[in-house]
Amino acid sequence: MSQPSMDTIVNLAKTRGFVFPGSDIYGGLANSWDYGPLGVELKNNIKHEWWKRFVHGRIDMVGQDGAIIMNPKVWEASGHLENFTDPLVECKNCHERYRADQIDLTKPCAKCGKSETLTEPASFNMMFKTFMGPKEESASTVYLRPETAQAIFVDFPQVLMTSRKRIPFGIAQIGKAFRNEITPGNFIFRTREFEQMEIEYFVHPDDWKEKFEMWLKELHGWIDFCGIKKEWVHEYETPGSELAHYSERTVDLEFDFPFGKSELYGLAYRTDHDLKKHSEYSGRDLSYTDTVTGEKYIPHVIEPSLGVDRTLLAVMLSAYTEEEAPTADGGVDKRVVMKFPHALAPIKIAVLPLSKKPELRDVALPIVEKLSKKWNAEYDETQSIGRRYRRQDEIGTPYCVTVDFDSLNDHAVTVRDRDTMVQERIAIGELEDYFFKNLKS
Ligand code: GAP
Repeated sequence: MSQPSMDTIVNLAKTRGFVFPGSDIYGGLANSWDYGPLGVELKNNIKHEWWKRFVHGRIDMVGQDGAIIMNPKVWEASGHLENFTDPLVECKNCHERYRADQIDLTKPCAKCGKSETLTEPASFNMMFKTFMGPKEESASTVYLRPETAQAIFVDFPQVLMTSRKRIPFGIAQIGKAFRNEITPGNFIFRTREFEQMEIEYFVHPDDWKEKFEMWLKELHGWIDFCGIKKEWVHEYETPGSELAHYSERTVDLEFDFPFGKSELYGLAYRTDHDLKKHSEYSGRDLSYTDTVTGEKYIPHVIEPSLGVDRTLLAVMLSAYTEEEAPTADGGVDKRVVMKFPHALAPIKIAVLPLSKKPELRDVALPIVEKLSKKWNAEYDETQSIGRRYRRQDEIGTPYCVTVDFDSLNDHAVTVRDRDTMVQERIAIGELEDYFFKNLKS
């Protein structure tokens, strides 16, 4: 199937409660988005599954949760103060700003149309600055982290000591990152506040190539698990001129977004850049001694870095499906189905009494109460059953449980499968077992 347009996904996200424009009642705030009831479930499921897979699922990994605001020396040592920049040009006529590497500098200003008004490119540091404490002076300047990675490097000796891990091993972290992007846009693709899921995997310098390939494979496995369409994902070997200041090799996993092929994830070989710099600037020895060979060295790092928001966007674009479906009167209708993998679906089961009659409610409510102890289950008794099925399809709920008047006598319900639309009659007492068997984790 061809990809939905951005408008289709943005519209579905807004009308169904996945993602809304932020600060909307005040006219919004440029490129800020809030995750609604379904969006936060989807996002939490992505983060939870990532953690389950890469932290709990591997014996060579541990997790941590570092502070967003760190000692400013961290950013001096890491090179972000000097190098975390984008080339900025400004129109001298209308003062619109652009990223110099994203536009044709020989063309007129896209906003005011004037020619030859763009300034020479200047380096613009993308870190958000703020002040710690009541004094707004340079001594109290701090930064919101532009990547979660640095807390992992700074905490490396403590995690090493307390976790009893030996190299090769990795530390994972999920959290917010902030970048004062010159040109944010394309919905949640590029925002100034976003979330990352990062791993810093520490290796012996001789092993980096093998571990790089291992993580590349892991990333493809994760993409598959999320239901992100393989045919829309491409590897991009970043040329030397485009490498970040800390990287010796980076492979981006790009995705065919409706606005063009763009970075979904990055896999970088950060060498010993960060630990070496933090050793130098802090005066603390961040080297590692192999207990078997006695060799002492600064570990090298492979970094799989994933944006949560971009994952969510790629998952939604991949899950979106339009199909023909039969109507109650024997006709054919179009249905939109979000075919999320079960593990990511915001709601796993919807319990739908056929009507609002109290006797059906009395059967349906205890069912949803019981199921919601194990899975995120929803109760809905508004509108016709057909419309409620369509809504659950659109939000990607794998199963609907319908309580009808026969249920009062046979103590059974109809379970409808989102993807096949096949309906089965299941005894109420067997529902839990049914979902343990059929809901895929
Ligand atoms: N620690 C390495 C690092 O931060 P990056 O390529 O700059 O590398 C990693 O960012 C990932 O974070 C990207 O692949 C993308 O998924 C996500 N990301 C980066 N900037 C973003 C932004 N402005 N909005 C949303 N996601 C972003």
